[in-house]
Amino acid sequence: SPRNVRKICCIGAGYVGGPTCAVIADKNPDIEVTVVDLNEARIRAWNTDDLPVYEPELLKYVKSARDGADGERSPNLFFSTDVDAAVRAADLIFISVNTPTKYTGTGAGHACDLGYVESATRKIAEVSESDKIVIEKSTVPCKTAETIREILAATGRPGVRFEILSNPEFLAEGTAINDLLHPDRILIGSLRSERGFQAAEVLSSVYAAWIPRDRIMTINLWSSELTKIAANALLAQRISSVNALSAICEATGADIDEVAYACGKDTRIGPRMLKASVGFGGSCFKKDILSLAYISDTLHLPEVAAYWRSVVDINEYQKDRFTRRITKCLYHSLTNKRIAILGFAYKKNTGDTRETAAISVVNSLVLEQADIRIYDPRVKEEQIWQDLKATASDITLLKRRVSVCTSAYEACTDSHAAVILTEWDEFSNKDHSTTQGNSPPTATNGTAEDGNLSSRMDWQHVAGLMKKPMFVFDGRNVVDVDKLEALGFRVECIGKSGTPKASSSILE
Ligand code: UDX
Ligand code: UDX
Ligand code: ADP
Repeated sequence: SPRNVRKICCIGAGYVGGPTCAVIADKNPDIEVTVVDLNEARIRAWNTDDLPVYEPELLKYVKSARDGADGERSPNLFFSTDVDAAVRAADLIFISVNTPTKYTGTGAGHACDLGYVESATRKIAEVSESDKIVIEKSTVPCKTAETIREILAATGRPGVRFEILSNPEFLAEGTAINDLLHPDRILIGSLRSERGFQAAEVLSSVYAAWIPRDRIMTINLWSSELTKIAANALLAQRISSVNALSAICEATGADIDEVAYACGKDTRIGPRMLKASVGFGGSCFKKDILSLAYISDTLHLPEVAAYWRSVVDINEYQKDRFTRRITKCLYHSLTNKRIAILGFAYKKNTGDTRETAAISVVNSLVLEQADIRIYDPRVKEEQIWQDLKATASDITLLKRRVSVCTSAYEACTDSHAAVILTEWDEFSNKDHSTTQGNSPPTATNGTAEDGNLSSRMDWQHVAGLMKKPMFVFDGRNVVDVDKLEALGFRVECIGKSGTPKASSSILE
């Protein structure tokens, strides 16, 4: 086994820790990998075939390493609640616990809550009887490794030495296994000391089991910590930039898909993450940007903080602008109008709803007294209610106005408008062979093939279900506008002028 690593422990059996360790274990059959968590239900689920995290291919990797499923290897992946034992036995320990945005106290809503990182660190210090390499995997503010080092130094047993590394993850939901198997790069940050370099080499050798050495970058600890947040901030910034341009397109008759596609052809810009939308969601982008802005403030860099906050501001503005467009097109009154919401997840191929634009859009439409009928192919009804209740200003109104449907047709029946908020393939009526030429390829990571839970909806059938005039508000630009217009729909897309084409609106 590489560099005498025999045992790895990962604290936190969540979205990051689980898949990462499944792949590490699969690729390093000689290393025993134990993923621990305080949450017993989660650990129990990791030991079944109904995993607590859904990712394409994940179960295959878990079964191979956890069960020795292919018969040619013995199990080397374990899920356990015995944190102490796994930590004590390990040579390498990943800290992969949650780092939510603080919701009370100093920095509430911006700063990152490091309480879980701290308690995991204290646990390591308390139980370790031999030298350990401690690896921060969770996204953390710059210099967190310093905090970890201090806690370990202050509370660890005498004679036990800890080396701290930063090894951030760049997994996107829906493509996590592919991102782990074929990463653009692996970052390993260490102190620039002899022992720091040695520790980085030990971790490198674990990844080198399947990743070419030239993709494994060893850099300074603080650079590594900052890169994780910086990469997410830059990605989100691209989307906000394109979304800001989409507002100009709507007002001028330019088409954001054409503009983004043409800009992306500049190799200095590149094509990915340039898809205009009703707003980005997900657990990382907003959290990381606000965390970056908060760090900037604490470093007395208010201009830098304001720059990054503007990325989130544009995202909020985009959601709000989209909702206002719906109200305006429906003759400035939504009272008692039925509106179908197609898609609630923050992107396709996931049931995850964290920070999804749908939450804000639905809440705003409810306040306009619209009757909302939500359909999403993968998000569970309880999840939708939980998200809306947590954010609604008037729960009674919410319950009276919203219902959750089991099909797009059910949601669209008797509706004045269909509002697409997630780019599920089922909502698209684009002809794939013809879209390539004139519209940009979807800029997200398009490798997950499991999106087609159900076949595509038949918009002609929908036309027979809705109230006239029938509106489609496409917050993801997944529909072929001409085809829908031919069926009698009035179509309003992000970054395009609506029906009838307002080609001269710049002159108004
Ligand atoms: C730019 C565009 O590149 C070109 O496509 C357009 O047609 C005209 O404007 P130019 O101004 O000649 O061209 O130079 P460019 O190389 O893009 O640099 C512009 C400025 O940005 C320079 O001051 C350069 O030093 C600076 N720059 C460039 C950076 O600070 N960092 C970079 O990564 C790149
Ligand atoms: C992101 C990063 O991509 C990943 O590297 C990091 O580790 C975690 O955060 P994720 O949130 O899973 O991953 O999804 P991503 O595909 O990046 O999309 C984030 C949000 O941006 C989604 O709401 C998506 O719909 C939106 N998006 C993405 C756009 O609106 N336009 C785009 O061009 C790309
Ligand atoms: P991420 O997306 O970063 O993986 P998750 O919230 O999905 O975050 O998972 C983090 C996991 O870490 C949770 O299952 C939580 O129970 C676990 N956790 C948090 N603190 C500790 C701790 N001190 N010891 C063990 N597990 C912990």
